[in-house]
This record gives sequence, C-alpha cells and structure tokens, in this order.
Amino acid sequence: MIVVGIETSCDETGLALYQTDRGLLAHALYSQVDLHAEYGGVVPELASRDHVRKLWPLLQHCLDEAGVSRAQIGGVAYTAGPGLVGALLVGAAGARGLAWSLGVPAVGVHHMEGHLLAPLMEDDPPAAPFVALLVSGGHTQLVEVEAIGRYQVLGETLDDAAGEAFDKTAKLMGLPYPGGPVLSRLAEQGRNGMFKFARPMIDRPGFDFSFSGLKTQVLLAWQQSDQGEQTRADIACAFQQAVVDTLTIKCERAMRETGARCLVVAGGVGANRDLRARLQQAGLAAGWRVCFPRPEFCTDNGAMIAFAGALRLAAGQAESSAIQVQPRWDM
Ligand code: KG4
Ligand code: ZN
Repeated sequence: MIVVGIETSCDETGLALYQTDRGLLAHALYSQVDLHAEYGGVVPELASRDHVRKLWPLLQHCLDEAGVSRAQIGGVAYTAGPGLVGALLVGAAGARGLAWSLGVPAVGVHHMEGHLLAPLMEDDPPAAPFVALLVSGGHTQLVEVEAIGRYQVLGETLDDAAGEAFDKTAKLMGLPYPGGPVLSRLAEQGRNGMFKFARPMIDRPGFDFSFSGLKTQVLLAWQQSDQGEQTRADIACAFQQAVVDTLTIKCERAMRETGARCLVVAGGVGANRDLRARLQQAGLAAGWRVCFPRPEFCTDNGAMIAFAGALRLAAGQAESSAIQVQPRWDM
C-alpha cells in the first residue's frame, strides 16, 4: 500500500510517499524559516496560511518524483497533534479531503510517535523493546517502548524542552532565528572549559529534565562578559556540553534501569553532532546500541508521518472522517 504522509504541525510543510513493501518512495519539505525570521519566532497565522499554499504542490512533487498516480494512493496519514491548532487543521483537512476524494482510509498520527518511529525507516532498524530519547523543540522525553504503540514515558522536561533551550539561549545571545542549529555550529568554534554551567537535575533520581535554569545561567554569563564573537562561541560550547551531558547521563541511567539493549534518539536535537557522538561513545562503553534517523529525518518531516501512518493503517487503525486535531496531546 502507498501511504501519503502530511506534516504541518509547526513551521515546516512535509509531504512523503511510503510504500509498505518498498519503503520511502519520495519526500519533500518546505521550511517557513524565512517567513518567520523577521518576527524571531513562528507566527501561527502565517504558518497556517503558508501550509495551505504549499500542501498540494509538495504532494504533486512527490507523486512526480516517485512516478505514482493519485489512483495508486492507498491511504493518507497526517499529524493530528500536538502542534499549532491552525497549522494542524490545514494538514488534517487536506488529508481528510484527499482520502475522501480517493475513497481511501485516513489516519491521524501523534507527531512525537512519528519522531519516535523515524529511526525504524533506516537500514538495520531497531526492534522493540528499546528506550527512546525524544528531543525536539516542544518535547524532551525518555520513553520505554515495549512494542510499537505501547509506550511508557519514563521522564520528561519539567519546563523548557532541549530544543527550546537551544533556541532561547541562541536568541538571548543575539543569534538569528532559528537558533538551535546556529548555536550548535557556533559551539564547534568555542574553547573548552572557558565557561562552566550546571548539569540540571542529574543528582535527583528518576528521568525528568529541566533546562530553563541553564538558560538563566547563560544569560548572566553573557551579560557579564565582553560579548565578543569568541566569548559567544565559548558560551555556546559550554551550554551545549551541559545539555549533551545531562541528556547522556539520563539516557545511561534509563538504559541501566530498564536493561534495554538499544537506545533510539529522535527529534530535532537528535541532529546535534555532539549529542550523536556522545551517545555513541556511551553505548559503545556500556554495550548497547544507539539508533538515530539520518539528520534530515530528526527534524520535522513528512516521511516519519507516512511511515507511522502506514503501520497504523496496516493494523486496521483508520478513523472516522471527522477533521479532528489535538494541539495538546500526551503520547
Ligand atoms: O523535531 P523538530 O524539528 O520540531 C519539533 O517537533 O519541535 O525540532 C526542532 C528543534 C528546534 O528547537 C531546533 O533548535 C532543534 O530542534 N535543533 C537542534 C539542532 N537542529 C535542530 N538543536 C541542537 N542542535 C542541532 N543541530
Ligand atoms: Zn517535531
């Protein structure tokens, strides 16, 4: 079965075609970064309007690239939440309309489940049970995956998500939106040990995170510094180390306590090179495997939604034709 995946939860329009027995046929992504840059963050109304403009051209692009006709589409999957309500509604209405016009089933997918399953699209995919670290702009969670669809949240952030901490920290040091990837590139030019920030919550038992205090530490350090280019890179380096250390320590703890043999890392911060290297090292030392999606499937994309939707549809989980979204939605 060929499944269309539609992702419109925030500021990226993602479309993809996934075929159950052949894998990913095509995917296309349009980022609205330029549209929101002058406001320093995502403007929800502008995001919704832009999804409307991009949805169908991107679908056509995927169909052309894969040489697939509309008549061959067997199902439609879309992100039903969590996310910006207007943006989600564009994807949901588009998906339901497409499915209705073709007479095929449609299914709403949880955005974070899409992220969580993205590594399973890669070669030599991990098999459940495993532990997943989900690190995006809106979420930071450690999840025990007993089977696909059976998830237990072990811990999560009490305040800012890891990606959000990257973005806010970048902003307060005057870096352009979207700050996370910019801050992480800058960190590579920073000198080790020039600044030292705390690793939040590592002394407490359990698997919860807290990143908002780190941002405040950076603000103070930045305000008291010469605010020069090298200083900014040095602070970025220390900040990134603190986040990566904290995430690594909690992952090691989760692997120890659950006895899992595989750690799956997904979400935008999963594209961070330092985090990828540190978790690989930790896994090598302790004898567990680490699986990441390729970096372009760490951040938002349609492929993960097509894939998660294909699994759901194969399990007979299509839903009624109501156009429903859940801007807030626990996994
Ligand atoms: O998964 P994602 O694309 O969207 C959400 O579901 O939130 O994640 C976006 C987040 C942003 O906060 C962005 O700054 C962060 O992921 N991010 C990174 C990197 N690439 C994206 N953070 C650190 N290092 C990166 N290389
Ligand atoms: Zn995401």
